[in-house]
Amino acid sequence: MDKTVPPRAFVAGHPVRHSRSPLIHGHWLKTAGIPGSYEKLEIAPEAFGAFIGSMKDGSAPFVGGNVTIPHKEAVFGFADDVDETARLIGAANTVWLEEGRIRATNTDAYGFAANLDEGHPGWDSGATAVVLGAGGASRAVIHALLQRGFGSVRVSNRGKARAVELSDRFGPRVSALGLDDLPDLMAGADLFVNTTSLGMDGSDVPPIDFSPMAEGGLVTDIVYVPLMTPILAMARAQGRPTADGLGMLLHQAVPGFEIWFGLRPRVTPELRQLVIDDM
Ligand code: ATR
Repeated sequence: MDKTVPPRAFVAGHPVRHSRSPLIHGHWLKTAGIPGSYEKLEIAPEAFGAFIGSMKDGSAPFVGGNVTIPHKEAVFGFADDVDETARLIGAANTVWLEEGRIRATNTDAYGFAANLDEGHPGWDSGATAVVLGAGGASRAVIHALLQRGFGSVRVSNRGKARAVELSDRFGPRVSALGLDDLPDLMAGADLFVNTTSLGMDGSDVPPIDFSPMAEGGLVTDIVYVPLMTPILAMARAQGRPTADGLGMLLHQAVPGFEIWFGLRPRVTPELRQLVIDDM
């Protein structure tokens, strides 16, 4: 990095206006006194390859950035090095320029685990997890759970075929089931993770009985708007410990900031409140 030029980073998406990343990185830049910037870039799919090319040749003067929908998978075709984490998850969310090469990783699995490490130390001491949903977010969660040593990850999805794909992708520790199987899956589970948008559109969420879970079994949701999602509310009402998903958003931003700006930022209550106030 040329130390005389303030470093610039970005979030590239289409649409990008809803991204909360500028708020997070802007806060860290300000509190650390770094004279850099973090900018929203609206980039259509057909322009994305050229953008990455211009970052590489220096005509777009960025040290790196986040890529979001719809570029998270497309970036594989344009980056020089995609790390194993991003390959396993099947999507990248963080890119940077290093010695003339475009590198890419995915920090969502890190963010998921770091959030629970902070609020619920020991969350990963269990053996069995239930994951509701089989989309992109689910893949990051499953990767984190396998890394943290869960011996059995039971994926339940409305469309069972997508859950089967994940069990093929991640191997024998991951089993695939349909939504009808959910009650059986709960037996003895140490952790329940919702990765779907179930109930977010105002529709009713079918009741979930958390009582077959292991004693002290934790329920978490990666959806964070609202903080108390219908699934977390249901778990609370049944006396379960819960963890909301906002921390995952905040923690997944940490590695990118450190790569681009050279300083590891902290996830503080002040930052959390800043994002809540913006919701
Ligand atoms: P993301 O990248 O956020 O995970 P996605 O890839 O679109 O988004 O995946 C959304 C997930 O939420 C899927 O598991 C989806 O189930 P299907 O694969 O059966 O579509 C799940 N989902 C969304 N709305 C749902 C609903 N009303 N009921 C049950 N599952 C739902």
